[in-house]
Amino acid sequence: MPDTNIPAATPLQPRRRGIIVGASSGIGAALARRLSKEGYSLALVARRSDLLNRVCVEINSEYHEVRVIPIVHDVTEYESVPELLRKIVAELGGLDLVVYNAGVNFPPGIDQYDFTKDRAMLEVNLMGAMAWLNPVAAMFQSAENGQIVGISSVAGDRGRIGNPGYNTSKAALSTYLEALRNRLTRHGVNVLTVKPGFVETEMLKAAQRVLFAIPPERAADDIWKAMRRRKQQIYTPWIWRWIMLVIRNIPSIIFRRMSF
Ligand SMILES: NC(=O)c1ccc[n+]([C@@H]2O[C@H](COP(=O)([O-])OP(=O)(O)OC[C@H]3O[C@@H](n4cnc5c(N)ncnc54)[C@H](OP(=O)(O)O)[C@@H]3O)[C@@H](O)[C@H]2O)c1
Repeated sequence: MPDTNIPAATPLQPRRRGIIVGASSGIGAALARRLSKEGYSLALVARRSDLLNRVCVEINSEYHEVRVIPIVHDVTEYESVPELLRKIVAELGGLDLVVYNAGVNFPPGIDQYDFTKDRAMLEVNLMGAMAWLNPVAAMFQSAENGQIVGISSVAGDRGRIGNPGYNTSKAALSTYLEALRNRLTRHGVNVLTVKPGFVETEMLKAAQRVLFAIPPERAADDIWKAMRRRKQQIYTPWIWRWIMLVIRNIPSIIFRRMSF
C-alpha cells in the first residue's frame, strides 16, 4: 500500500472516497480523472503499475483537494480481495463508491470455439466482479449507504455469432448487477449498470466493426451524470438504448440468420 495523504473529511467539507477496479487505461482512467475533478479521493486498481502510476501522478498534480493512490492487483486473485478491500478502506478513511470496470475481450475468430479465451473473459469480466462486489455489497448494506457502478456492455443484451464468451460474460454481469440492485436499493444503496456501445480504447482494437464510437472522456461524462442522478442503467452513448431496443426484439428466427 503506497504512502498517501488523504485530505481529512470535515462536516463542512465531506470527502467522497471510491475505488475504480480497472483504472489503468481507457474508460477507467477517464472516469478516474472525471471523479477526481468532482472531489473523489480514489484507489485505482489494475495490473499495469506504470500506467496506473502515470494516471495517479497526473491527477494528484492537478487536483490538490483529493488524493489518488495506485493499487497493483490482478482481479483473478479472488482470495486476496477481502483483505485488500479492508486495507484500501482504512487508507481512504471510508468508502462511498466502487466501480467495477475491469474487462477483457478475446474474440475467438468466426467459426472458432476457444475455451481458454472464454474462460479468461469469464474470470475477469464476471468472476472478478463478484469477488469484488460481494464484500462491497455486504459493507454497503450494513452501512445503509453507498454506490456501485458496473461497466457491462451492449454485447450482453444478445448472444451473437462473433464472440459468445464475451456476450455471456457481460450478460451474466448485467444480471448479477440487477440482482445486487434488487437486494440493495431497499438498504439505500444505488447500483448502476453501464452499457457502453463502442468506446475508442485499446479494447476497441478487438472489435470486428465499429459504429457511433465515442472517446472514453465522453463515456466518463455520461457515467458521472448517471451516478449523480442515481440512475439504475444507462447506455453510452444514448443512441444505443434505441439500437438495442430494436436488436433485443428481433425474433430469433431472423436473428440467427444475420451475420451481426
Ligand atoms: N471499448 C469499448 O468499446 C467497450 C464497449 C463496451 C464495454 N466495454 C467495457 O468497458 C470496460 C473498460 O474497457 P476499456 O474499453 O476502457 O478497455 P481497456 O483500456 O483495455 O481497459 C480495461 C481495464 O481493465 C483492466 N483489467 C483487465 N484485466 C485485468 C485483471 N486481470 N486485473 C485487473 N485489471 C484488469 C485493465 O488494466 P490492466 O491491464 O493494467 O490490468 C484496464 O485498466 C471493460 O469492462 C469493457 O468490457 C468497453
